[in-house]
Amino acid sequence: WENMKTIKIGLLGLGNIGTGTYKTLEMNRDEIESTLNSKVEIVKILERDTERDRGIAVPKEKFTSDPDEIFKDPEIDIVIELLGGIEPATSFILKAMENGKHVVTANKAAIAANYHKLMETAQANNVLFRFEASVGGGIPILGTLTGPLRANKFEEVLGILNGTTNYILTMMTKEGVDYDTALKDAQAQGFAEADPTADVEGIDAANKLTILMALMFDKYVAPEDIPTTGITQITKEKIEEARANNCKIKLIAHAKKLENGEIEYEVRPMHISETHPLANINKEFNAVFVKGNAVDDLMFYGKGAGPLPTGSAVLGDVIDIAKTIL
Ligand code: HSE
Repeated sequence: WENMKTIKIGLLGLGNIGTGTYKTLEMNRDEIESTLNSKVEIVKILERDTERDRGIAVPKEKFTSDPDEIFKDPEIDIVIELLGGIEPATSFILKAMENGKHVVTANKAAIAANYHKLMETAQANNVLFRFEASVGGGIPILGTLTGPLRANKFEEVLGILNGTTNYILTMMTKEGVDYDTALKDAQAQGFAEADPTADVEGIDAANKLTILMALMFDKYVAPEDIPTTGITQITKEKIEEARANNCKIKLIAHAKKLENGEIEYEVRPMHISETHPLANINKEFNAVFVKGNAVDDLMFYGKGAGPLPTGSAVLGDVIDIAKTIL
């Protein structure tokens, strides 16, 4: 154990997901370290708020307010970016890569906005870039699309990709809770974005659809070019109307490859028949329906938001990278 290599991590951001990742590492350290036959340590954390009670004991000396202390530290192997938002996150990811760090992020907004630049910079600097947590939270969808499913031509994807809106719609449909109360509840549980507009207007789901389309169809569509409608106009009356037709309203991200090879795509609330499996995806759970030309229909289901499920995906990527570099 004494002479064992330690994988050293610099963490950018100790918010909901940063804290969830930290907790997941503490909770499962034995399993993670014995899988790797190596120690894993978060050595530095970029975070201004050092006082907040997060329910974890973080030694004060790990905190820094200077990102260069992470980028320029030759001992750090992997940078985990969990700041959220496009900037400064994108610049920080690029800088980490340019300094030879492998990068793991959950940041769908940053990846969707700057997909090519991030991919090219990772390649140019010969570093690994993983972002499993960015789509579907704890559901291992991206690695599955690019791994076990890579022999397929993909035809279609239908996803419930936003936990906050699915939580709100579920609470309005099943518990008769009103929109504002349901949103506050989602925020309190750490599902919602810092600015929940991105959730309720469908922008977060569009960011995730951009990432899915890039991986499935090798086609980049900027999120702002995806026709997007959120759930702010969904009232109890509309939910009742759907119920009268044996349907539930779900915010669906959809992309389909047409006969002529073009891709059609949209994010909007849809009426889903109560007999369809997507109708029974409740609360912060997500689901991704994928059709491949060889494998046919598949569905993935799990917690698409929240600190621990997202932390699970982040650390999965860390383990994957660590296995490659050890
Ligand atoms: N705000 C997002 C959601 C977090 O509610 O799904 C997970 O990406």
